[in-house]
Amino acid sequence: MTIYANYAATTPALSPAVSGELREYLGGTHLNAGRNFEGLETGAIALRARRAVGKLFGVADPLRVLFSSGATQSLNMVINGLVRPGDHVLATGVEHNATARPLDLLRKSGVIELDWLRCRPDGSLDPGTVRNAIRKNTKLLVMTHASNVLGTILPVTECFRIAHEYGVLTILDMAQTGGVLPFIMEDYADVIVFAGHKGLGALAGGGGFAVGESIAERMRPWISGGTGSVSHSLDMPEFMPDRFEPGTQNTIGILSLAASVEEILSAGVEKIRERERGHTARFIAGLREIKKIHVCGTLDPDRCVSVVSVEVRGYDAGEVSRLLFENHGIITRSGLHCSPLAHKTAGTFPGGTVRFSFGSGTTEAEIEAILEALDSL
Ligand SMILES: Cc1ncc(COP(=O)(O)O)c(C=O)c1O
Repeated sequence: MTIYANYAATTPALSPAVSGELREYLGGTHLNAGRNFEGLETGAIALRARRAVGKLFGVADPLRVLFSSGATQSLNMVINGLVRPGDHVLATGVEHNATARPLDLLRKSGVIELDWLRCRPDGSLDPGTVRNAIRKNTKLLVMTHASNVLGTILPVTECFRIAHEYGVLTILDMAQTGGVLPFIMEDYADVIVFAGHKGLGALAGGGGFAVGESIAERMRPWISGGTGSVSHSLDMPEFMPDRFEPGTQNTIGILSLAASVEEILSAGVEKIRERERGHTARFIAGLREIKKIHVCGTLDPDRCVSVVSVEVRGYDAGEVSRLLFENHGIITRSGLHCSPLAHKTAGTFPGGTVRFSFGSGTTEAEIEAILEALDSL
Protein backbone atom coordinates (compact mmCIF):
# COMPACT_ATOMS: atom_id res chain seq x y z
CA MET A 1 0.00 0.00 0.00
CA THR A 2 1.28 3.47 -0.77
CA ILE A 3 0.45 6.80 0.79
CA TYR A 4 0.55 9.68 -1.65
CA ALA A 5 1.71 12.94 -0.06
CA ASN A 6 2.77 14.85 -3.16
CA TYR A 7 -0.39 16.71 -4.19
CA ALA A 8 1.55 19.96 -4.61
CA ALA A 9 3.19 18.30 -7.63
CA THR A 10 0.06 16.72 -9.06
CA THR A 11 -3.22 15.08 -8.06
CA PRO A 12 -2.54 11.46 -8.94
CA ALA A 13 -6.04 10.30 -9.91
CA LEU A 14 -9.10 11.77 -11.59
CA SER A 15 -12.41 11.47 -9.74
CA PRO A 16 -14.63 8.59 -11.01
CA ALA A 17 -17.12 11.08 -12.52
CA VAL A 18 -14.38 12.97 -14.39
CA SER A 19 -12.69 9.84 -15.74
CA GLY A 20 -16.10 8.43 -16.74
CA GLU A 21 -16.82 11.52 -18.79
CA LEU A 22 -13.41 11.38 -20.43
CA ARG A 23 -13.86 7.72 -21.36
CA GLU A 24 -17.13 8.57 -23.06
CA TYR A 25 -15.46 11.42 -24.95
CA LEU A 26 -12.60 9.17 -26.08
CA GLY A 27 -15.11 6.78 -27.68
CA GLY A 28 -16.49 9.56 -29.91
CA THR A 29 -15.13 11.77 -32.69
CA HIS A 30 -12.63 14.57 -32.01
CA LEU A 31 -12.77 17.77 -34.02
CA ASN A 32 -11.19 21.20 -33.92
CA ALA A 33 -13.29 24.01 -32.48
CA GLY A 34 -13.98 26.79 -35.01
CA ARG A 35 -12.65 24.81 -38.00
CA ASN A 36 -15.89 23.11 -39.18
CA PHE A 37 -19.57 22.80 -38.22
CA GLU A 38 -19.06 19.49 -36.45
CA GLY A 39 -16.42 21.17 -34.30
CA LEU A 40 -19.15 23.17 -32.60
CA GLU A 41 -19.31 20.48 -29.94
CA THR A 42 -15.63 21.04 -29.15
CA GLY A 43 -16.30 24.76 -28.83
CA ALA A 44 -19.15 23.90 -26.45
CA ILE A 45 -16.77 21.87 -24.26
CA ALA A 46 -14.44 24.86 -24.04
CA LEU A 47 -17.33 27.20 -23.21
CA ARG A 48 -18.51 24.85 -20.48
CA ALA A 49 -14.99 24.86 -19.01
CA ARG A 50 -14.69 28.66 -19.30
CA ARG A 51 -17.99 29.04 -17.42
CA ALA A 52 -16.95 26.67 -14.62
CA VAL A 53 -13.45 28.13 -14.22
CA GLY A 54 -14.83 31.68 -14.48
CA LYS A 55 -17.30 30.95 -11.69
CA LEU A 56 -14.61 29.39 -9.50
CA PHE A 57 -12.23 32.34 -9.83
CA GLY A 58 -14.78 35.16 -9.99
CA VAL A 59 -14.21 36.11 -13.65
CA ALA A 60 -17.24 38.07 -14.87
CA ASP A 61 -16.99 37.07 -18.56
CA PRO A 62 -16.19 33.39 -19.36
CA LEU A 63 -14.60 34.48 -22.65
CA ARG A 64 -11.79 36.03 -20.61
CA VAL A 65 -10.84 32.55 -19.32
CA LEU A 66 -8.12 31.20 -21.62
CA PHE A 67 -6.63 27.72 -21.88
CA SER A 68 -3.01 26.69 -22.34
CA SER A 69 -0.72 23.78 -21.45
CA GLY A 70 -0.60 24.88 -17.81
CA ALA A 71 0.61 27.49 -15.36
CA THR A 72 4.12 27.63 -16.86
CA GLN A 73 2.98 28.43 -20.39
CA SER A 74 0.39 30.85 -19.03
CA LEU A 75 2.95 32.75 -16.92
CA ASN A 76 5.26 33.04 -19.93
CA MET A 77 2.38 34.31 -22.07
CA VAL A 78 1.08 36.91 -19.64
CA ILE A 79 4.45 38.18 -18.43
CA ASN A 80 5.86 38.53 -21.95
CA GLY A 81 2.57 39.89 -23.23
CA LEU A 82 2.48 42.70 -20.67
CA VAL A 83 6.04 43.96 -20.25
CA ARG A 84 7.75 46.48 -22.53
CA PRO A 85 11.45 47.44 -22.69
CA GLY A 86 12.46 49.55 -19.70
CA ASP A 87 9.68 48.30 -17.41
CA HIS A 88 10.44 47.47 -13.80
CA VAL A 89 8.90 44.25 -12.44
CA LEU A 90 8.43 43.02 -8.87
CA ALA A 91 8.02 39.42 -7.78
CA THR A 92 8.31 37.70 -4.42
CA GLY A 93 11.18 35.74 -2.93
CA VAL A 94 9.16 32.52 -2.95
CA GLU A 95 8.23 32.31 -6.64
CA HIS A 96 8.29 29.03 -8.55
CA ASN A 97 10.70 28.83 -11.47
CA ALA A 98 7.65 29.08 -13.76
CA THR A 99 7.68 32.78 -12.82
CA ALA A 100 11.30 33.26 -11.82
CA ARG A 101 12.90 31.92 -15.00
CA PRO A 102 10.90 33.92 -17.56
CA LEU A 103 11.40 37.06 -15.47
CA ASP A 104 15.11 36.49 -15.06
CA LEU A 105 15.48 35.77 -18.78
CA LEU A 106 13.85 39.13 -19.55
CA ARG A 107 16.20 40.80 -17.06
CA LYS A 108 19.29 39.11 -18.52
CA SER A 109 18.16 40.09 -22.02
CA GLY A 110 18.08 43.73 -20.91
CA VAL A 111 14.31 44.07 -21.42
CA ILE A 112 13.22 44.65 -17.81
CA GLU A 113 14.57 45.68 -14.44
CA LEU A 114 13.65 43.15 -11.77
CA ASP A 115 13.45 43.14 -7.98
CA TRP A 116 12.59 40.21 -5.72
CA LEU A 117 10.50 41.19 -2.70
CA ARG A 118 12.15 39.81 0.42
CA CYS A 119 9.95 37.36 2.36
CA ARG A 120 10.48 36.20 5.94
CA PRO A 121 12.09 32.75 6.40
CA ASP A 122 8.65 31.15 6.92
CA GLY A 123 7.61 32.46 3.48
CA SER A 124 5.39 35.28 4.73
CA LEU A 125 5.61 38.79 3.30
CA ASP A 126 5.01 42.23 4.78
CA PRO A 127 2.77 44.09 2.27
CA GLY A 128 4.70 47.29 3.09
CA THR A 129 7.61 45.75 1.16
CA VAL A 130 5.61 46.28 -2.03
CA ARG A 131 5.09 50.00 -1.41
CA ASN A 132 8.80 50.48 -0.68
CA ALA A 133 9.87 48.69 -3.85
CA ILE A 134 7.60 50.48 -6.34
CA ARG A 135 9.37 52.90 -8.69
CA LYS A 136 8.22 55.29 -11.41
CA ASN A 137 8.66 52.61 -14.09
CA THR A 138 7.18 49.68 -12.14
CA LYS A 139 4.76 47.95 -14.49
CA LEU A 140 4.03 44.59 -12.94
CA LEU A 141 3.79 42.73 -9.65
CA VAL A 142 3.81 38.93 -9.97
CA MET A 143 2.98 36.87 -6.90
CA THR A 144 2.33 33.27 -6.09
CA HIS A 145 -0.81 32.87 -3.97
CA ALA A 146 0.89 30.25 -1.79
CA SER A 147 4.45 28.95 -1.83
CA ASN A 148 4.79 25.50 -3.37
CA VAL A 149 7.63 24.80 -0.92
CA LEU A 150 6.48 26.28 2.39
CA GLY A 151 2.73 26.37 1.84
CA THR A 152 2.58 29.89 3.26
CA ILE A 153 -0.28 31.98 1.87
CA LEU A 154 0.87 35.42 0.75
CA PRO A 155 -1.13 38.58 1.59
CA VAL A 156 -2.08 39.05 -2.05
CA THR A 157 -5.14 41.23 -1.58
CA GLU A 158 -3.21 43.81 0.47
CA CYS A 159 -0.21 43.70 -1.87
CA PHE A 160 -2.40 44.07 -4.98
CA ARG A 161 -4.33 46.95 -3.43
CA ILE A 162 -1.05 48.78 -2.89
CA ALA A 163 0.13 47.96 -6.43
CA HIS A 164 -3.10 49.32 -7.91
CA GLU A 165 -2.70 52.59 -5.96
CA TYR A 166 0.39 53.14 -8.14
CA GLY A 167 -1.12 51.81 -11.37
CA VAL A 168 0.98 48.65 -11.21
CA LEU A 169 -0.58 45.59 -12.91
CA THR A 170 -0.91 42.38 -10.90
CA ILE A 171 -0.54 38.72 -11.85
CA LEU A 172 -1.47 35.97 -9.39
CA ASP A 173 -0.07 32.45 -9.75
CA MET A 174 -2.82 30.19 -8.37
CA ALA A 175 -1.11 26.89 -9.23
CA GLN A 176 -1.14 25.87 -5.55
CA THR A 177 -4.44 27.44 -4.54
CA GLY A 178 -6.87 26.83 -7.41
CA GLY A 179 -9.77 24.76 -6.03
CA VAL A 180 -8.38 25.05 -2.51
CA LEU A 181 -8.60 28.74 -1.55
CA PRO A 182 -11.48 31.01 -2.57
CA PHE A 183 -10.44 34.02 -4.66
CA ILE A 184 -12.36 36.60 -6.74
CA MET A 185 -10.19 37.81 -9.60
CA GLU A 186 -12.29 40.84 -10.55
CA ASP A 187 -11.94 42.26 -7.02
CA TYR A 188 -8.17 42.05 -6.73
CA ALA A 189 -6.03 40.79 -9.62
CA ASP A 190 -5.57 41.85 -13.24
CA VAL A 191 -4.54 38.35 -14.28
CA ILE A 192 -4.74 34.95 -12.59
CA VAL A 193 -2.92 31.83 -13.74
CA PHE A 194 -3.97 28.26 -12.91
CA ALA A 195 -2.69 24.69 -13.31
CA GLY A 196 -5.21 21.97 -14.16
CA HIS A 197 -3.53 18.99 -12.53
CA LYS A 198 -3.12 20.06 -8.91
CA GLY A 199 -6.01 21.26 -6.70
CA LEU A 200 -8.30 21.48 -9.72
CA GLY A 201 -8.05 17.69 -10.16
CA ALA A 202 -7.93 17.73 -13.98
CA LEU A 203 -5.54 16.06 -16.44
CA ALA A 204 -1.88 17.08 -16.51
CA GLY A 205 -0.86 19.22 -19.49
CA GLY A 206 -3.75 21.66 -19.12
CA GLY A 207 -4.43 24.90 -17.28
CA GLY A 208 -4.66 28.50 -18.30
CA PHE A 209 -5.19 32.06 -17.21
CA ALA A 210 -7.92 34.67 -16.92
CA VAL A 211 -7.60 38.38 -17.59
CA GLY A 212 -9.44 41.47 -16.40
CA GLU A 213 -11.50 43.47 -18.90
CA SER A 214 -8.92 46.18 -19.54
CA ILE A 215 -6.01 43.74 -19.77
CA ALA A 216 -7.07 42.04 -22.96
CA GLU A 217 -6.33 45.26 -24.88
CA ARG A 218 -3.03 45.93 -23.12
CA MET A 219 -1.62 42.43 -23.47
CA ARG A 220 0.10 41.35 -26.67
CA PRO A 221 -0.42 37.77 -27.83
CA TRP A 222 2.95 36.20 -27.07
CA ILE A 223 2.13 33.02 -28.98
CA SER A 224 0.38 33.51 -32.30
CA GLY A 225 -0.95 31.26 -35.04
CA GLY A 226 -4.16 29.97 -36.59
CA THR A 227 -7.43 30.45 -34.76
CA GLY A 228 -9.94 29.58 -37.48
CA SER A 229 -11.08 33.23 -37.37
CA VAL A 230 -10.01 36.46 -39.18
CA SER A 231 -7.89 34.20 -41.39
CA HIS A 232 -7.28 36.88 -44.06
CA SER A 233 -5.12 38.84 -41.60
CA LEU A 234 -1.61 38.17 -40.33
CA ASP A 235 -2.61 39.79 -37.02
CA MET A 236 -4.14 37.79 -34.21
CA PRO A 237 -7.88 38.50 -33.77
CA GLU A 238 -8.74 41.33 -31.41
CA PHE A 239 -11.53 39.39 -29.73
CA MET A 240 -11.49 36.86 -26.93
CA PRO A 241 -10.75 34.03 -26.53
CA ASP A 242 -9.16 33.73 -30.01
CA ARG A 243 -6.63 36.48 -29.29
CA PHE A 244 -4.78 34.26 -26.82
CA GLU A 245 -5.63 30.74 -27.99
CA PRO A 246 -3.80 30.00 -31.24
CA GLY A 247 -3.49 26.47 -32.57
CA THR A 248 -5.39 23.32 -31.77
CA GLN A 249 -6.43 23.20 -28.15
CA ASN A 250 -6.07 20.33 -25.66
CA THR A 251 -9.76 19.41 -25.77
CA ILE A 252 -9.60 16.40 -23.49
CA GLY A 253 -7.64 18.42 -20.93
CA ILE A 254 -10.22 21.19 -21.20
CA LEU A 255 -13.06 18.68 -20.80
CA SER A 256 -11.36 17.26 -17.70
CA LEU A 257 -11.15 20.82 -16.32
CA ALA A 258 -14.84 21.44 -17.02
CA ALA A 259 -15.90 18.25 -15.25
CA SER A 260 -13.52 18.57 -12.29
CA VAL A 261 -14.16 22.27 -11.66
CA GLU A 262 -17.92 21.65 -11.77
CA GLU A 263 -17.37 19.01 -9.06
CA ILE A 264 -15.37 21.49 -6.99
CA LEU A 265 -18.12 24.08 -7.36
CA SER A 266 -20.75 21.67 -6.13
CA ALA A 267 -18.58 20.50 -3.22
CA GLY A 268 -17.77 24.15 -2.33
CA VAL A 269 -14.23 25.56 -2.15
CA GLU A 270 -14.76 26.63 1.48
CA LYS A 271 -15.59 23.03 2.45
CA ILE A 272 -12.50 21.73 0.59
CA ARG A 273 -10.37 24.34 2.34
CA GLU A 274 -11.77 23.37 5.74
CA ARG A 275 -10.97 19.70 5.16
CA GLU A 276 -7.43 20.42 3.98
CA ARG A 277 -6.89 22.87 6.82
CA GLY A 278 -7.84 20.08 9.25
CA HIS A 279 -5.24 17.75 7.73
CA THR A 280 -2.55 20.42 7.82
CA ALA A 281 -3.37 21.37 11.43
CA ARG A 282 -3.11 17.76 12.63
CA PHE A 283 0.08 17.18 10.64
CA ILE A 284 1.84 20.29 11.95
CA ALA A 285 0.74 19.53 15.54
CA GLY A 286 2.12 16.00 15.16
CA LEU A 287 5.39 17.21 13.66
CA ARG A 288 5.93 19.54 16.61
CA GLU A 289 5.98 16.49 18.91
CA ILE A 290 8.88 14.93 16.98
CA LYS A 291 12.11 16.43 18.27
CA LYS A 292 14.34 15.84 15.26
CA ILE A 293 11.94 17.63 12.89
CA HIS A 294 12.09 21.29 11.95
CA VAL A 295 9.01 22.66 10.16
CA CYS A 296 10.24 25.27 7.67
CA GLY A 297 7.06 27.25 6.92
CA THR A 298 4.46 28.78 9.20
CA LEU A 299 3.14 26.70 12.09
CA ASP A 300 -0.29 28.31 11.75
CA PRO A 301 -2.65 26.19 9.60
CA ASP A 302 -4.80 29.27 8.89
CA ARG A 303 -1.86 30.83 7.07
CA CYS A 304 -0.89 27.96 4.79
CA VAL A 305 -2.26 25.49 2.28
CA SER A 306 -1.71 21.75 2.70
CA VAL A 307 1.99 21.93 1.85
CA VAL A 308 4.52 21.38 4.64
CA SER A 309 8.29 21.31 4.20
CA VAL A 310 10.51 19.83 6.88
CA GLU A 311 14.14 19.21 7.67
CA VAL A 312 15.01 16.11 9.69
CA ARG A 313 18.09 16.72 11.80
CA GLY A 314 20.91 14.38 10.92
CA TYR A 315 19.38 13.35 7.60
CA ASP A 316 19.73 14.52 4.04
CA ALA A 317 16.33 15.43 2.50
CA GLY A 318 16.64 12.88 -0.32
CA GLU A 319 17.51 10.15 2.17
CA VAL A 320 14.36 10.86 4.21
CA SER A 321 12.18 10.67 1.08
CA ARG A 322 13.83 7.40 0.08
CA LEU A 323 13.43 5.84 3.54
CA LEU A 324 9.81 6.92 3.76
CA PHE A 325 9.09 5.32 0.41
CA GLU A 326 11.13 2.14 0.83
CA ASN A 327 10.08 1.38 4.41
CA HIS A 328 6.58 2.83 4.52
CA GLY A 329 5.38 3.34 0.93
CA ILE A 330 5.03 7.10 1.54
CA ILE A 331 5.46 9.27 -1.58
CA THR A 332 6.91 12.72 -0.90
CA ARG A 333 9.11 15.10 -2.86
CA SER A 334 12.53 16.20 -1.65
CA GLY A 335 15.05 18.73 -2.98
CA LEU A 336 14.39 22.23 -4.25
CA HIS A 337 10.88 21.76 -5.72
CA CYS A 338 11.59 24.04 -8.73
CA SER A 339 11.87 26.99 -6.36
CA PRO A 340 15.45 27.84 -5.38
CA LEU A 341 14.15 31.29 -4.38
CA ALA A 342 11.84 29.83 -1.71
CA HIS A 343 14.65 27.66 -0.36
CA LYS A 344 17.00 30.65 -0.19
CA THR A 345 14.26 32.51 1.70
CA ALA A 346 13.80 29.59 4.11
CA GLY A 347 17.55 29.06 4.55
CA THR A 348 17.31 25.52 3.11
CA PHE A 349 19.29 26.11 -0.09
CA PRO A 350 20.97 24.08 -1.59
CA GLY A 351 20.16 21.04 0.57
CA GLY A 352 16.41 21.38 0.18
CA THR A 353 13.63 19.91 2.29
CA VAL A 354 11.23 17.00 2.35
CA ARG A 355 7.84 18.26 1.27
CA PHE A 356 4.53 16.69 2.32
CA SER A 357 1.41 17.86 0.53
CA PHE A 358 -2.15 16.68 0.90
CA GLY A 359 -5.23 16.79 -1.27
CA SER A 360 -8.56 15.29 -2.23
CA GLY A 361 -7.60 11.66 -1.53
CA THR A 362 -5.77 12.23 1.77
CA THR A 363 -7.24 10.58 4.87
CA GLU A 364 -6.72 11.20 8.60
CA ALA A 365 -5.31 7.68 8.91
CA GLU A 366 -2.67 8.52 6.29
CA ILE A 367 -1.61 11.63 8.22
CA GLU A 368 -1.20 9.52 11.37
CA ALA A 369 0.78 6.88 9.45
CA ILE A 370 3.15 9.52 8.06
CA LEU A 371 3.71 10.97 11.55
CA GLU A 372 4.46 7.49 12.93
CA ALA A 373 6.87 6.80 10.09
CA LEU A 374 8.71 10.07 10.73
CA ASP A 375 8.88 9.37 14.44
CA SER A 376 10.42 5.96 13.76
CA LEU A 377 13.22 7.29 11.54
C1 LIG B 1 3.51 27.85 -7.66
C2 LIG B 1 3.60 27.13 -8.96
N1 LIG B 1 3.59 27.83 -10.11
C3 LIG B 1 3.66 27.24 -11.31
C4 LIG B 1 3.76 25.86 -11.43
C5 LIG B 1 3.82 25.24 -12.80
O1 LIG B 1 2.60 24.62 -13.11
P1 LIG B 1 2.38 23.75 -14.45
O2 LIG B 1 2.82 22.37 -14.08
O3 LIG B 1 0.90 23.78 -14.71
O4 LIG B 1 3.15 24.35 -15.53
C6 LIG B 1 3.78 25.09 -10.26
C7 LIG B 1 3.92 23.62 -10.37
O5 LIG B 1 4.56 22.97 -9.61
C8 LIG B 1 3.69 25.74 -9.00
O6 LIG B 1 3.71 25.04 -7.87
